[in-house]
Amino acid sequence: ATPGAGHGRPGLLGFPAVQPSVADTVVLPPGYQHQVLFPWGHPIVPSGPAFAEDAGNSAAEQAHQAGDHHDGMWFFPLKGGPSGRSGLLCVNHEATSEQLLHTDGRADWSPEKTAKSLAAHGVSIIEVERDRDARWHLVESKFARRVTMTTSAEVTGPAAGHPLLRTHADPTGVRVLGTLNNCASGPTPWDTYLTCEETINKYFYFGEEPPAAGSVEERYGIGSEEPYPWHTTEARFDMREEPNEYNRFGWVVEIDPFDPTSTPKKRTALGRMEHENAVVVRGRRGEAVVYMGDDTQFDYFYKFVGAERIHKAHKRGRSPLDKGTLYVARLDEDGTGSWLPLVHGEPGLTAADGFADQAEVLIRTRLAADAVGATPMDRPEWCTVQPGTGAVFFTCTNNTARTESVNAANPRRENRFGHIIKIDEGGDPGAETFDWDVFLLAGDQASGATVPPDQAFGSPDGLWFDAEGRLWIQTDGTQPTVDGAEQNNQMLAADPRTGDIRRFLVGPPRCEITGITSTPDGRSLFVNIQHPGDSGTPQDPRASSNWPDFSATGRPRSATIVITREDGGVVGG
Ligand code: FEO
Ligand code: CA
Ligand code: CA
Ligand code: CA
Repeated sequence: ATPGAGHGRPGLLGFPAVQPSVADTVVLPPGYQHQVLFPWGHPIVPSGPAFAEDAGNSAAEQAHQAGDHHDGMWFFPLKGGPSGRSGLLCVNHEATSEQLLHTDGRADWSPEKTAKSLAAHGVSIIEVERDRDARWHLVESKFARRVTMTTSAEVTGPAAGHPLLRTHADPTGVRVLGTLNNCASGPTPWDTYLTCEETINKYFYFGEEPPAAGSVEERYGIGSEEPYPWHTTEARFDMREEPNEYNRFGWVVEIDPFDPTSTPKKRTALGRMEHENAVVVRGRRGEAVVYMGDDTQFDYFYKFVGAERIHKAHKRGRSPLDKGTLYVARLDEDGTGSWLPLVHGEPGLTAADGFADQAEVLIRTRLAADAVGATPMDRPEWCTVQPGTGAVFFTCTNNTARTESVNAANPRRENRFGHIIKIDEGGDPGAETFDWDVFLLAGDQASGATVPPDQAFGSPDGLWFDAEGRLWIQTDGTQPTVDGAEQNNQMLAADPRTGDIRRFLVGPPRCEITGITSTPDGRSLFVNIQHPGDSGTPQDPRASSNWPDFSATGRPRSATIVITREDGGVVGG
């Protein structure tokens, strides 16, 4: 259905749309409330180190507190606990605002500042519980844990141990320190958490000269922006000293939240790119199928299809994500498409083409995808699978660099506001062909949007179907005005059956809204507010936002919030 076409028909959306807002607050529909649960610096257990609002916590304290830039997350109910009232929450910490992370910002950079920044990246695993009055709180928990940029992780799958993954500190090529730029996420059917390494290029220093045109490093964005200052105190981030360290990032990482001593696993069969999220479903043969996007201008949609059944792999002590076929999508002009296998030895992927083996195909996934003729998209961000139909929806957030090369799947020049693509595999996640359609074009009427003008939004990023089939859309980037009014980033809900779409939440200035999960009963919805105020200005970090503390001596903080209905009903219903 076309969004907006179904006004008045009974549907899944039971709330009135909220108005656009630029206020320094979280706006929700009447009858809804929210609570700030887990802001940056909050200890992961109540007995942990308290947050210092002047950012005076040490690196060692930061390693036991919430990291920065909350992104994808998932709620895992605790077995034996009361339904919808206790669980483990895994939260990604994508990046850091260095200006806010340290009392004096980036001044006099030091090894301690690098260490604190490393500790503010990664993942938090916390145990949360709901009171009788519907308030959530963190509890002392044997599961509580931080995974940071210094946590030991293991490389698994076809690229494990490859020479391109070996470094001075790790001649085996299987032991990596940490995970970074943990963008979005996905749960597996076997109750583990996938966290995706996205914008890896901004952590590695190549040197004064940029990589050569056409080089692998250039294709992976190295040198395209000023990197974090980590390389000034740690040689592993200086590519002149350690050229392979960056090959050890850009993977999907699996964490078992129920085993606090477990080692995070980098699953190389899923390819190496700027991974946004990873959505796992069970294929018809019982295998794992994973949908993924590579968030860069003109990059691609991907899918992994496991080689063996999930339960069989587990029975043999193997991961269902270590063996299988990685595919990249080609979307043809007639609304059909193909998943193109990235298999070593196939045309374009031979030794003569520069790929010595399958490990190189995976380490340099982007070059392999270029070689087979995938369709360059307008920055693929999250994907999600529709309950019942199995259709896969992908956000293409925007792409102002697209000029002449418009096509049916990326139909706008200088695409400022983005769009959402729907892929229909006929209910077979293992299929090698599909039909596709543009589900919606975001933006205002002047930009050709297919969304009603009063619900105009831009830069769709987070995307998630809840259990009842509501499609939640979260934004990160330029928003169109509505009747001349500016608006902050927001979250909307759509009912794909009726075409209805309504603005549900608006965040504080200069934040993005990202990360969404709920209790199984749908009555508590967790959402992340990332980088409110976006670090402010060097003169005043509180210049555009001071959410959520509003302390004159504090600073804005990324945070997980919990949204509930005052009548206790299903959120959105
Ligand atoms: Fe981390 Fe593409 O967003
Ligand atoms: Ca972000
Ligand atoms: Ca994103
Ligand atoms: Ca984004």
